[in-house]
Amino acid sequence: MKVGVDYYPEHWDPAMWVEDARAIKAAGVSLVRLAEFAWSRLEPADGIFDFGWLDQAISLFHAQGISVIIGTPTAAPPNWLVEKHRDVLPVDNQLHTVHPGVRCHRCYNSPSLRRHAQRIIEQLTRHYADHPAVIGWQTDNEIAANDCHCENCHREFIAWLQRKYGELATLNHQWGTVVWSGEYSSWSQVTTPLGGSPYQNPSLLLDFRRFCSDSAAEFNRFQAELIRRHCPRHAVTHNLWGYPVVTDYYDLFAAMDFAAVDYYPSTDLRDDAKANIYHGALTLDLTRGVKRRNFWVMEQLSGTPGCWHPMSRAPYPGMIRAYAWQSVSRGADAVVNFRWRTARVGAEQFWHGLLDHHGHPGRRLREFTQFAHEAARLADVIEGTQLHNDVAILFSHQQLNALVIQPQSDGFDYFNNVKQLHRVLVRQGIGIDVINWLERIDDYKVVIAPYLFLEDAAVVEKLERFAMAGGTVVLTTRSGVKNGNNVCQPDYLPGLLSRLAGIRVEEYDPVGKDRQRLRLGEDEVACSQWCDIVVPTTAATLGRYASDYFSDSAAITVNALGKGQVYYVGTVLDDIGYQRFFAPIISGCDIEFTPDLPADVELSIRSDGDKRLLFVLNLSPDKKTVALTPRARYNAFSGEAVAGNLELQPFDVRILVEELASRQ
Ligand code: GAL
Ligand code: ZN
Repeated sequence: MKVGVDYYPEHWDPAMWVEDARAIKAAGVSLVRLAEFAWSRLEPADGIFDFGWLDQAISLFHAQGISVIIGTPTAAPPNWLVEKHRDVLPVDNQLHTVHPGVRCHRCYNSPSLRRHAQRIIEQLTRHYADHPAVIGWQTDNEIAANDCHCENCHREFIAWLQRKYGELATLNHQWGTVVWSGEYSSWSQVTTPLGGSPYQNPSLLLDFRRFCSDSAAEFNRFQAELIRRHCPRHAVTHNLWGYPVVTDYYDLFAAMDFAAVDYYPSTDLRDDAKANIYHGALTLDLTRGVKRRNFWVMEQLSGTPGCWHPMSRAPYPGMIRAYAWQSVSRGADAVVNFRWRTARVGAEQFWHGLLDHHGHPGRRLREFTQFAHEAARLADVIEGTQLHNDVAILFSHQQLNALVIQPQSDGFDYFNNVKQLHRVLVRQGIGIDVINWLERIDDYKVVIAPYLFLEDAAVVEKLERFAMAGGTVVLTTRSGVKNGNNVCQPDYLPGLLSRLAGIRVEEYDPVGKDRQRLRLGEDEVACSQWCDIVVPTTAATLGRYASDYFSDSAAITVNALGKGQVYYVGTVLDDIGYQRFFAPIISGCDIEFTPDLPADVELSIRSDGDKRLLFVLNLSPDKKTVALTPRARYNAFSGEAVAGNLELQPFDVRILVEELASRQ
């Protein structure tokens, strides 16, 4: 377990560094991240490098026994570089240059950017390869798929399409360019999707998003290779921005040793629309799923966010510590807080760090210090523990992109709908892995494969094998609609999944925000967004609509397949509806859950061969009472046995140890 802070020596008078390094150490920090935007200081002029200041800062941290992660500075190309080589700058879809002034003004396909990035990364990695304080690297910062239409991207996009389709005739056929006379008779006519019509060919739009994502991933891979050349023993990672995004994080992190995330949960808890408390749990579960292993938080909430939008509420007392523990509870092995001091200059003056502008220690630093010291005390206990969950949700940036390009109905949102499924289970204390839809799934009991809009035969086959062997699969509406080129399939829905689900969808109604009723066993629940009118072939009907002209048609079914079951939910239920739907699945599959877990209390289990660590987090400003399922446990800090109800204060954190030998 490492606890750290992000620190920007270049923003502060060097006279302050010594004191800062000492105070950072006193706060319990063992790691700092440095330099990820400092290109203009590291290379003040073309080919003139100055690492003296960074040497000095690193040596101060080293003297305190603090390790260092260095960020490659490529997210902020300096003005001399931009002035010399305009191709560094991205170009938007109106062919306007994206000018410098903020950051991220760089096109991943710019040869000048590549050349200069290569040189600075080589210089840095040579220089710091054997520095005893430096343990690893962060590539760039929050790499996102650029929507860049510059000449280099245009050329690379054509090459990407040629690799994918070979002949232009194949592309014309696959994209269906015949519609509205969009046929290309020469490659020179193919452009990136330039601005103008909002109705562009969906196949072009999806391929362009994939290309942009691939360009980002390739830029990241390029950096990782350079770093490893000189620093083979150092860790290489990257800090992902969060979700939902165009960039396929599974590809972006292919060349990384582990994933890292920048985690800023909402501080506006009293405003439900903003609070969205379970978004954070999903972000962390997704991040753990990126490499299917523990991860780091490279930037963790430390103070009031703001700047380009009005400032949010200040973190409620206890929040900084509780959210840091939440990160750990869902698989973080390092938590690095953003940032030590709040900036006095530049664009982020009001994105608050641990210290306010006055620079004196206060409530937030005290809380962080408490967390850092607690983490140090439990480091040995936590070290080597991981999450082992029985339920997986399959996630896909491909589906997300396709469903953003063509929204299916009023209110239908892929990410929110995935979040809802996740939330319903998290609300019952169930541990869930959220993994790439293309990943191996053998070790789970239940696999939820929602909204497989773009069909993939290998995924269908994998789900079938999983069910045959005894697994439980949950499929949803808007599946099997298209092929991978974003073209509608000519079959009854859900296409290739029909056999697994034992149904066909003869008709559907994108009901949007019209709420419909549905009978599920003894209950009547609500649904909306979409209603498939399902005709079971081999499946049994579990739920029927109880409203509108499709009243009595099947909506939810289950099909026995081999030793397993395949459920199909032909609509989008409300949270209560999903709870009712999942209840028999959870008990039937012997999945651990906590009935009546209060809202905003999250449970999570990290374990190794000897013990389980049960994290119980009250992520709310209200008191909560939790009735855990009985088991022998003791408080990880005090060693006291814990039995009966847990009384949790606002933002309370409990870490309970269950020795596996003594499991009841
Ligand atoms: C992150 C970014 C940081 C800082 C922070 C606060 O997304 O990586 O550099 O900008 O947000 O806005
Ligand atoms: Zn470009």
